[in-house]
Amino acid sequence: ATVTVVDHPLVQHKLTLMRDRDRSTKGFRELLNEIGMLLAYEVTRDLPLEPVIIETPIEATEGRRIAGKKLVLAPILRAGVGFLDGMLSLMPAARVSHVGIYRDPESLQAVEYYFKSPSDLADRTVLVLDPMLATANSAVAAIDRLKSRGARDLRFVCLLAAPEGLARLQQAHPEVPVWTAAIDSHLNDHGYIVPGLGDAGDRMYG
Ligand code: PRP
Repeated sequence: ATVTVVDHPLVQHKLTLMRDRDRSTKGFRELLNEIGMLLAYEVTRDLPLEPVIIETPIEATEGRRIAGKKLVLAPILRAGVGFLDGMLSLMPAARVSHVGIYRDPESLQAVEYYFKSPSDLADRTVLVLDPMLATANSAVAAIDRLKSRGARDLRFVCLLAAPEGLARLQQAHPEVPVWTAAIDSHLNDHGYIVPGLGDAGDRMYG
């Protein structure tokens, strides 16, 4: 599936501010929220439209509205929640699946601790949200879980991706396209993205 790097200047500028180790928690959160909106704009770029007749104050005309499947946002807790408000502000009718997964610091395996989702995933387009795609263990586990609940049309949205994670996600779920603000160099021995921005969940929530 495709990997789209969103290299818009606003995204790159804000991402660079987020990488700064001296960025405050407040600033980090605000920037992630803003980038969430900009990524929402890109990830929805190809949604189908249908014609609709609308009365302007002057005359009737044909407008267009989004057609087809409704959206579900599926943030992977905790860090994925950082994208949620920004995206919901642009897509206020979207439903939300909360996927609680943490990565065991030793084994780097994904451990699920919470899952709550609308039941009609089969009829919706699911945007899986997580700022960091490192080993992709978390993303693969989240997508496995959403698929087991019926999801068939999924997209993955992140801020930073490691090449290792992109390869693993491609192998496990080859039909799921990815949007990211950047592809970084590699993973270090602790499974952190290099150069990265540290632990997104910790930088947002402590
Ligand atoms: C981090 C990050 C991703 C995951 C990425 O979460 O937010 O969810 O690790 O790593 P992976 O691609 O190797 O699975 P973490 O386990 O630190 O949980 P948190 O978001 O609650 O801090």
